[in-house]
Amino acid sequence: MDTIQIRGGRRLKGEVTIDGAKNAALPILLASLLTPERCTFRNVPRVVDVRTTLRLLADLGARVEDDGNGVVRIQAERLARLEAPYALVKTMRASFLALGPLLARHGRARVSTPGGCAIGSRPVNLHLDGLQKLGARVRLLHGYADAEAEQLRGARISLDFPSVGATEHLMMVATLAEGTTTIENAAREPEVVDLARALAAMGARVTGAGEDIISIEGVSALHGVEFSTIPDRIEAGTFMIAAAMTGGDVYLRGARAGHLQAVILKLREAGVEVREDPEGIRVIANGRLRSVDVKTMPYPGFPTDLQAQMLAAMALADGRSVISETIFENRFMHVLELNRMGADVKIEGNAAIIRGVAVLSGAPVMATDLRASVCLVLAGLAAEGVTEVSRVYHLDRGYVRIEEKLSALGADIRRVKESKG
Ligand code: UD1
Repeated sequence: MDTIQIRGGRRLKGEVTIDGAKNAALPILLASLLTPERCTFRNVPRVVDVRTTLRLLADLGARVEDDGNGVVRIQAERLARLEAPYALVKTMRASFLALGPLLARHGRARVSTPGGCAIGSRPVNLHLDGLQKLGARVRLLHGYADAEAEQLRGARISLDFPSVGATEHLMMVATLAEGTTTIENAAREPEVVDLARALAAMGARVTGAGEDIISIEGVSALHGVEFSTIPDRIEAGTFMIAAAMTGGDVYLRGARAGHLQAVILKLREAGVEVREDPEGIRVIANGRLRSVDVKTMPYPGFPTDLQAQMLAAMALADGRSVISETIFENRFMHVLELNRMGADVKIEGNAAIIRGVAVLSGAPVMATDLRASVCLVLAGLAAEGVTEVSRVYHLDRGYVRIEEKLSALGADIRRVKESKG
């Protein structure tokens, strides 16, 4: 397996262009299952999770063209099967979102349930409860969710938790249900809003996305679309924190400050200068960061997908900070590895207590999930000596050519290809 090798201590400087949002692209690509017409999507990031989604769509029988430059064309005119197998869903939980669109258009579908993953149990009960409210019969059998419905009907759904995936899933299904659906306590993430925009461009009637209550008035069919996804706020946030940790000066072209207010606020509190403009964000840092407390929350709160990166930054900050994780139950797997690099972090329940240290020292490390891996890359950029991050496939699931982008900003970083034999 490839590894990433970093010699720490370089200040990041220059400009980086932010790619399309992975978490917006995945559900939007799956929304193409809702129409027999051709959909063209632009600004699709070239990450492994996107490739997995395209594989799933092709496996279902959709025609998929990927120009390799962020433009993807999908036409799900006639499908070969209405089933997403375990092999695909287990590598990427978002593929569970294929269930609803297949059901809404074809009256039945069978998709493997995702099960656990490294950051917690991650159930799909809210997805399944909602589908049942919309009139689907759902059975869980042999590790698969089997859903059937002659005619889905609009309903009032109140989510116990503003789940991003459940909101997206139910919104997609409701576009083709008869009558009106309201989703209360809906997730308000920018990716939910982007999916709603894509659905509206396909002829769906959706209002309220980005607010607590989303209303969808069902239509009999959706049509093809040309759509461009928003920039990735998590990639942008990751580069912002990287710049902050290395005393850098980086301009993030394409980043939307409006999507990153909670992060910008915390970085400013930590002593970082953040300049916002309509084309991007500039981050200027000087000297050691001040420690700040952070609590992850549903949007517009601080994103859980930037928790690990912020924790790496706080490991080197001046003072003590507390980072609380309220979204996922087991999302501190990076802490043990950071401590091996000299960090002083203790876990108490859902909080990490961090005593900032003056230096981290490079080490061979490995990570168990996407954001944990990138947190170790950031720690490596700021550490003394060489850090070698293994299990790079986690990084490739969500970041486009991260080592090339960081290297263009002046980092001493390279990918070492696995030697065969
Ligand atoms: C999405 C993002 C992920 C991000 C997360 C939270 C994608 C592809 N992934 O994941 O990167 O970290 O939002 O911002 O967009 N839950 C239930 N029952 C359910 C569904 C969720 O209990 O049916 C719980 C989960 O276990 C978790 C919490 O709700 O504790 C949040 O999960 P959710 O918002 O659904 O995250 P995802 O959509 O899986």
